[in-house]
Amino acid sequence: MDRDDLRPDSLLIHGDRARRAGQASVAPPIYPTSTYASDDPEAFTRAATTPQDAGFYTRYGSPNQADAAAVLAGLEGAEAALLTASGMAAITTATLALVSAGDHVALQTSVYGGTAALASEVLERFGVRTTAVAQDDLDAWDAAITPETRLVLLETPSNPRLGVTDVTAVAEIAHARGALVAVDSTFATPIHQRPLALGADLVLHSATKYLGGHSDLLAGAIVGSTALIERIWPTSLVLGGTLGSFEAWLLLRGMRTLGMRMARHSGTALAVAQALDGHPGVVHVDYAGLPGHPGHDVATRQMTGGYGGVLAFEVRGGGAAAERAISAMRIARRAASLGGVESLAVRPAAMWATQMDEGALERAGIAPGLVRLAVGVEDPDDVVADVVAAVEAATA
Ligand SMILES: Cc1ncc(COP(=O)(O)O)c(C=O)c1O
Repeated sequence: MDRDDLRPDSLLIHGDRARRAGQASVAPPIYPTSTYASDDPEAFTRAATTPQDAGFYTRYGSPNQADAAAVLAGLEGAEAALLTASGMAAITTATLALVSAGDHVALQTSVYGGTAALASEVLERFGVRTTAVAQDDLDAWDAAITPETRLVLLETPSNPRLGVTDVTAVAEIAHARGALVAVDSTFATPIHQRPLALGADLVLHSATKYLGGHSDLLAGAIVGSTALIERIWPTSLVLGGTLGSFEAWLLLRGMRTLGMRMARHSGTALAVAQALDGHPGVVHVDYAGLPGHPGHDVATRQMTGGYGGVLAFEVRGGGAAAERAISAMRIARRAASLGGVESLAVRPAAMWATQMDEGALERAGIAPGLVRLAVGVEDPDDVVADVVAAVEAATA
């Protein structure tokens, strides 16, 4: 079976089959071993020098990593994928592999707090200059990306305000100056967005979220050409943030249903966004599926089949009213993370206080009353009714 012939929902089920030829078990076996023996010295050396070749030492790769990587690479239209122990391990490993002291990195003002902290606390400390740019301002990208820029880190839709970056336009600017472009596509997943086809060089995922899909594992992924993955792999071995076999198996099990889950997540998120848009208890709603969202046109051009399962809204009355609204939700629980089958809500200004100071929160547009809601796959009508009732109870 040639994976190039298969559509995403079929690839999710069969994208690892060629790799597992000869295995009778329909579900993949789990390899709970740290190391692999070989009677053949040449095969042993090959396994030690090939990213995620299935059988040398688990920090170097494992059959379970390779199974999940085959499916994810196929979905992204990529040659290769490297799985890591978390989304942050993917972002830090890719970045530290590609930049050196004296280089420059351009990233978005609005990004996951951990990525912002990588720039401000780690890269700067090691002599890598960084510039944060408003993601929808192409003139600002044009000014920020210079011949010293090695890497442009994008995230779209972005956490937590669902900003949209025009990947193709930024990639054109970056490539003209010799920089690589990596896109954190966690919120979109390959079901809704394929950054490599839009011109990016690498896709990064917190696979903890939708790819795993059940709030029961931490994982990350770096997806791209074989050449780039081979360039990143030695740094991955040194940093050691590899994915364990059981988590890789669990990730693949979760991914089997990604297409169905994303359809439900995105449909419900749009319904909640529409119900809150213009509601008197809400100052504004952030969701790229709403025609009034500033990134709607770009998102419609570069995403397919939906806009993702996360939305944000500012509750009238500030931080206290936002916390009352979250407490009043009967379905969504107050919890970090997103992308699981259950709805989760958080107040980013509280959650990210350790990673971003007040100024950084303000620059990223994170108001005290902002609620980030990741809708689950519960009945859509129940979720909409619950969120609206909670906002009304909190602002009455
Ligand atoms: C967009 C995005 N990227 C990266 C991460 C980090 O992923 P992890 O928690 O798996 O390290 C997160 C976590 O929330 C995220 O939302």
